[in-house]
Amino acid sequence: MQGKGATMVSNGYQSGFGNEFATEAVPGTLPVGRNSPQRVAHGLYAEQLTGSAFTAPRGSNRRSWLYRIRPAVMHGEFTPFDQPRLHGNFSHAAVSPNQLRWDPLPLPGTPTDFIEGLYTMGGNGGPEAHTGAGIHMYAANADMRGRYFYNADGELLIVPQLGRLRLRTEMGVIDIEPQQIAVIPRGVRFAVELPDGQARGYVCENFGALLKLPDLGPIGSNGLANPRDFETPVAAYENLEGEFELVAKFHGRLWRADINHSPLDVVGWHGNFAPYRYDLRHFNAIGSISYDHPDPSIFLVLHSASDTPGTSNLDFVIFPPRWLVAQNTFRPPWFHRNIASEFMGLIHGAYDAKAEGFVPGGASLHNCMSGHGPDAATFDKASNADLSKPDVITETMAFMFETRGVICPSEQAIAADHRQRGYQACWSGLRDNFTPPKA
Ligand SMILES: [Fe+2]
Repeated sequence: MQGKGATMVSNGYQSGFGNEFATEAVPGTLPVGRNSPQRVAHGLYAEQLTGSAFTAPRGSNRRSWLYRIRPAVMHGEFTPFDQPRLHGNFSHAAVSPNQLRWDPLPLPGTPTDFIEGLYTMGGNGGPEAHTGAGIHMYAANADMRGRYFYNADGELLIVPQLGRLRLRTEMGVIDIEPQQIAVIPRGVRFAVELPDGQARGYVCENFGALLKLPDLGPIGSNGLANPRDFETPVAAYENLEGEFELVAKFHGRLWRADINHSPLDVVGWHGNFAPYRYDLRHFNAIGSISYDHPDPSIFLVLHSASDTPGTSNLDFVIFPPRWLVAQNTFRPPWFHRNIASEFMGLIHGAYDAKAEGFVPGGASLHNCMSGHGPDAATFDKASNADLSKPDVITETMAFMFETRGVICPSEQAIAADHRQRGYQACWSGLRDNFTPPKA
């Protein structure tokens, strides 16, 4: 696969969440006063990319107008692309209520790009019903060369844990490193480069309503993830011809088509349907300054709403550095069982509810109503801690993909060598401390 011409470079970002952006890599590209003039400037084609129902309420309506060198329809016929580690089959077998945990996904030993390195951990729902989420990991050591990708099944929330990613998208270039995230909307074409030579991380494929910032209720107008900290790239394009490949995820599986040019040829665009990045270190964590914990929803970064008020299809929650000051309170996350199902990952440092076994790049799954909480060592330490002083947790960044539906682990994730057998043993040291008063 080869091409000719310049490769697009990162030129900057526009601040804000879901704004009506307007950006052009060549002056005079964007039409004024209309979206599809009879002739677009510079001989470009106009194309609309729509991410919500045409008739969605204005506040949740998402679409962008792209002005490009060639329309997106120009490619060969799609045929199946063989990458069985990525799939959307979440009902292969009986799903146990067992608590599960994994070591980091091993890095590949042979050249593997981002698409080849995707590995499905589990999920629920699917693209047909536009509900649920696919949960994947990636481990890669090669740039996507001559290969471009888009996902028709859902938007992709990418959470790097090891190594930076350069996401060259139709709508501009996004650079992220661990503790930053990126969201690539459904349908947007992109290629992934690995500036550090290797990379590992987590991907949540949201089949449901588009991710959005939560309402803040009594918190007020500031706090949690602030809209101005979200960044959408400015327009950048490449004008390449060659023997390239377009890979699509469509209806649960991958497809490929020949394409004789780079699809990253959008010279200018305007609209509110676009990729973005966010630095998790900018999250304004809010917690108790008296006693007890708020529920973990206080750490919500983004969520995908469902048709049931107050019940998300998907929550993306983080556990960032923070002060713990609550008095007469068990300060780590307490024992609990939820109707929601929780897939957790650790991006950086240590997680305060586990003394060992949950390492950066690892993962855990606690499904609907399966009990979980601190391990025995953490329970003993926190039960006897001196609460006259605050604790500060500095080296940490854990996250959770929390879903309304049960998360069905994939067959490969259950069978994987890197799954920790006997995870439940971390709670076996919790003793019976019950000492009723003597009559
Ligand atoms: Fe939990």
